[in-house]
Amino acid sequence: MTESRRFMVLDQDLQRYLDEAAGLHGALFERPWSRTALEDLLATPGTAGAAMLDPDGEPRLAGFVLFRSLGDFAEILTVAVAPDHRRRGLGRLLMRHAVQMARESGAERLLLEVQDGNLPAIRLYEDLGMEAFDRRRNYYKSGNGGHADAIMMQLSFHD
Ligand SMILES: CC(C)(COP(=O)(O)OP(=O)(O)OC[C@H]1O[C@@H](n2cnc3c(N)ncnc32)[C@H](O)[C@@H]1OP(=O)(O)O)[C@@H](O)C(=O)NCCC(=O)NCCS
Repeated sequence: MTESRRFMVLDQDLQRYLDEAAGLHGALFERPWSRTALEDLLATPGTAGAAMLDPDGEPRLAGFVLFRSLGDFAEILTVAVAPDHRRRGLGRLLMRHAVQMARESGAERLLLEVQDGNLPAIRLYEDLGMEAFDRRRNYYKSGNGGHADAIMMQLSFHD
């Protein structure tokens, strides 16, 4: 575990917080990932995750990131911060950690997809230097039975 900012701690072993991570994912996303789904992902070669903890009292999960390296490229599978911990830089810290891991894995670029209109996430990724390069029409199921596009974003490590 390493101290990453005052009152918050980054733990590079997401495996230890799977129940809380599944709970947070389920509360935030239309297609929730169960503890088993997260466990299966983490067991896939090249996949890793990190947790941001609020160590006040019993450590509680404030956010997490899940990513994988697939040779030439790496990808963010998900990143989430609990609503009561947002806008304190935790998402940026989790993403910077994933970017660093991607670089160290030897990937040439980092990819992700984000729902069109998810401005907090899009701004966060742009803030890290990521750029949109493609769009997948109606990729996500959104509220009211509708669908939303996915925006593909990338960060190249060789520009
Ligand atoms: C996206 C998310 C992870 C950001 O987490 P966070 O800890 O609040 O983000 P940070 O505090 O690190 O913000 C970093 C930068 O992102 C941008 N940002 C974050 N939230 C924003 C918001 N609500 N509106 C506009 N920009 C925002 C800003 O540029 C911010 O920098 P600043 O605070 O210096 O202005 C969080 O909103 C979240 O969990 N959302 C739901 C899950 C989700 O959509 N995940 C992405 C799936 S692709």
